[in-house]
Amino acid sequence: MRLLVAGGAGFIGSNYVHHRLGAQPKDSVRVLDKLTYAGRRENLEGLPDNRFELVEADVADRDAARAAVEGCDAVVNFAAESHVDRSIETPGEFITTDVYGTYVLLEAARDAGVRHLQISTDEVYGDFDQGSATEESPLNPSSPYSASKAGGDLLVSAFARTYGAEALIVRASNNYGPRQHPEKLIPLCILNALAGDALPVYGDGMQVRNWLFVEDCCAAIDAVLERGTPGEVYNVGGPDELPNLEVVRRILALTDRDESLIEYVKDRPGHDRRYSLSAARLEGLGWKAQVRFDEGIERTVHWYRENETWWEPIRSGEYRAYYERQYGKALK
Ligand code: NAD
Ligand code: TYD
Repeated sequence: MRLLVAGGAGFIGSNYVHHRLGAQPKDSVRVLDKLTYAGRRENLEGLPDNRFELVEADVADRDAARAAVEGCDAVVNFAAESHVDRSIETPGEFITTDVYGTYVLLEAARDAGVRHLQISTDEVYGDFDQGSATEESPLNPSSPYSASKAGGDLLVSAFARTYGAEALIVRASNNYGPRQHPEKLIPLCILNALAGDALPVYGDGMQVRNWLFVEDCCAAIDAVLERGTPGEVYNVGGPDELPNLEVVRRILALTDRDESLIEYVKDRPGHDRRYSLSAARLEGLGWKAQVRFDEGIERTVHWYRENETWWEPIRSGEYRAYYERQYGKALK
């Protein structure tokens, strides 16, 4: 297959490109990425030159999207503004990329007659006090991020129904693993713990997330891309549900730090209490998560320990200003 991977220079997208080109020696990938603060060329180092190219462009640029789709057999769209806290600060970019950008790429894929796989999130269902969200659960997003992702998803479903577009949606739970930007809970806590800095826990730390190792997410995307039914949604839920405090404690143990580093800070506005996904439909396609949290978090901490050259420039760049705005006073 010749794949167009939008947003392939970010966390999950770059893991997917490495996974796909490693597993499929005849495939080629074109990445379309705006290289925002979250997208990095370094994430795509070591890929085979003859089967890979990077096009630096905005997914919401119609001409660029159409040119990028040309010659491809399928589109996988990871391109998004992806951080809830930043969406609370500045929602506009989320609507431009996650809603309008999705529309632009979807239309380009429809006109080219190729499959469009939209990468979405469990956050579109909102929080679940008990039980797990199925693909039929109502959308009930809480943040500007999840509302924008829901908007993108609704366009994908509408294009499948109205135009018969070969469009599908994957809704994944919280991913973790190598190359995740340190604005997110797990890498933030790993890097702070390694440095001996405080670990900011929002509210009481009892919010529950359904953790999915990024390699399992990549395998799920392959299953849906290859065997999914057009117009369908597929939930990808991780094997473990854990309160944030438990996640933070595991990181402290793996970095030989004690709980005195935990700092309870003001809760996130509109904070979802619990996410939980049923992945039964996807399991029907033969997928099953392989990596439990205990193993995945150990591998992730190991990766950050070994890859300071990857994260050091992030920690000293734009992220510093964001960190100051988000946590400055609370962590002093
Ligand atoms: P990320 O922020 O690490 O990467 C996003 C990528 O999209 C970056 O490379 C960025 O440069 C690119 N991008 C942003 N705006 C763009 C634009 N206008 N045009 C082209 N490229 C643009 O995000 P991630 O964590 O890798 O998430 C990837 C996708 O998966 C997102 O759609 C996200 O909503 C979804 N998702 C993420 C998680 C998670 O836990 N990280 C869980 C479920 C779903
Ligand atoms: P995050 O990694 O931002 O993912 P999401 O909001 O998409 O689930 O956050 C995961 C959980 O960790 C969420 O409940 C918010 C919480 N959290 C903290 O307690 N402290 C932090 O500094 C961050 C970034 C998140």
